Amino acid sequence: MVKICCIGAGYVGGPTMAVIALKCPHIEVVVVDISVPRIAAWNSDQLPIYEPGLEDVVKQCRGKNLFFSTDVEKHIADADIIFVSVNTPTKTRGLGAGKAADLTYWESAARMIADVSKSNKIVVEKSTVPVKTAEAIEKILTHNSKGIEYQILSNPEFLAEGTAIDDLFKPDRVLIGGRETPEGQKAIQALKAVYANWVPEDRIICTNLWSAELSKLAANAFLAQRISSVNAMSALCEATGADVAEVSHAVGKDSRIGSKFLNSSVGFGGSCFQKDILNLVYICECNGLPEVATYWKQVIKINDYQKNRFVNRVVSSMFNTVSGKKIAVLGFAFKKDTGDTRETPAIDVCKGLLGDKARVSIYDPQVTEDQIQRDLSMNKFDWDHPIHLQPMSPTTVKQVSVVWDAYEATKDAHGICILTEWDEFKNLDYQRIYDNMQKPAFVFDGRNIVNPEKLREIGFIVYSIGKPLDAWLRDMPAVA
Ligand SMILES: NC(=O)c1ccc[n+]([C@@H]2O[C@H](COP(=O)([O-])OP(=O)(O)OC[C@H]3O[C@@H](n4cnc5c(N)ncnc54)[C@H](O)[C@@H]3O)[C@@H](O)[C@H]2O)c1
Repeated sequence: MVKICCIGAGYVGGPTMAVIALKCPHIEVVVVDISVPRIAAWNSDQLPIYEPGLEDVVKQCRGKNLFFSTDVEKHIADADIIFVSVNTPTKTRGLGAGKAADLTYWESAARMIADVSKSNKIVVEKSTVPVKTAEAIEKILTHNSKGIEYQILSNPEFLAEGTAIDDLFKPDRVLIGGRETPEGQKAIQALKAVYANWVPEDRIICTNLWSAELSKLAANAFLAQRISSVNAMSALCEATGADVAEVSHAVGKDSRIGSKFLNSSVGFGGSCFQKDILNLVYICECNGLPEVATYWKQVIKINDYQKNRFVNRVVSSMFNTVSGKKIAVLGFAFKKDTGDTRETPAIDVCKGLLGDKARVSIYDPQVTEDQIQRDLSMNKFDWDHPIHLQPMSPTTVKQVSVVWDAYEATKDAHGICILTEWDEFKNLDYQRIYDNMQKPAFVFDGRNIVNPEKLREIGFIVYSIGKPLDAWLRDMPAVA
């Protein structure tokens, strides 16, 4: 029986391995992690991450051919194929701080593999890593090899949180990069055989190592660039009276462009886009390509601009101050159908409002108070480390309350900021909400999910990103 071990039981390692186990009953899959609570959660009824369909998949195979364990050494030693899906945060100190990927966790995983292995292994990069990481990993492994042969493959993950299980069941493509040697090609075929259990062969792309590593960074940069492009247009729409939804629709009808990922919003978030682009920028700089680096850096700058612009709209339209005012924040996760808050735009928006001394009342159907407090008090980039290595007791932000109901969050509020596109926010009783708010009552829709006309009929002053502005907002400055 082929044995797979995955190091890192996170958003990628957990769902990916669960789907491999489901689709390959003849393969034993063990997911290991240094975080004891995380593994305990994977073995419980309360999985550590929320992802539609995940629980069902885990329940079908856990205890049969899918296992979660903290015995990292044993399962690495036993495995034929080792996936490494550990954190690759942005460096906060030293060379490349604020841009380069911190490969500490990757290196320690590689050293662990070298220490405990007694048989030949295929080591698969699942984490998103800088180009040429495989070369570094190869060096660590071969310099400590004790005669064992290692083949390194790059198999970046393209799943999107919120639709991870569907994405894994029906991937647009699976990408496998390996060495162009006979051994490298053999390793590629071994991994291809795993995916071929459910992925059509024409969707499995095999490349050299560096193309595979770079393709992941490139794909995320292209996706984020689309969002920044439409968000840049949203500012121009507001200035001119155009409607960004109409512009996106018209632009997206061009089959060369396509309609996906053209929704304007308060900005992109998630653990990957910013981190991967910063990483790309750093790689460009290191390779003497400053113009290319500047080009990609702009994608992040526009995202920051969009978040600032949103906060400025809120403050300027409420008589240039939110000091002491209650602002309801609906949605904190970086997008709907996930509880993930990593790099969510809600963090910067809330910090901006708090900077202007607002009282913020937050409701998100999937995010806990503890998580929100951590996010608002943690330093930039600190979130991307194993949980037990994050700062222990961050200070509580007193002006923030977290409630479990949208009506509670909005009661007596002066304004509402919609920051995640949860479906339930589309169908709230906005008349009831309006009746219980201070007047004038404002809605700032950072996801364009409410019907501004209907809300205006109720009496709200409405700001929808990139849409024609209320008379109230038209003459207010909104520069970042
Ligand atoms: N989250 C996504 O949507 C997504 C999508 C594609 C790729 N990625 C990439 O995949 C990688 C993992 O991302 P994630 O979201 O799953 O992160 P995560 O933080 O959810 O999970 C990483 C896990 O690795 C564990 N870990 C760290 N070092 C370890 C070690 N030496 N031994 C054992 N366990 C260790 C941590 O405790 C943590 O549970 C990152 O490189 C990320 O960029 C993420």
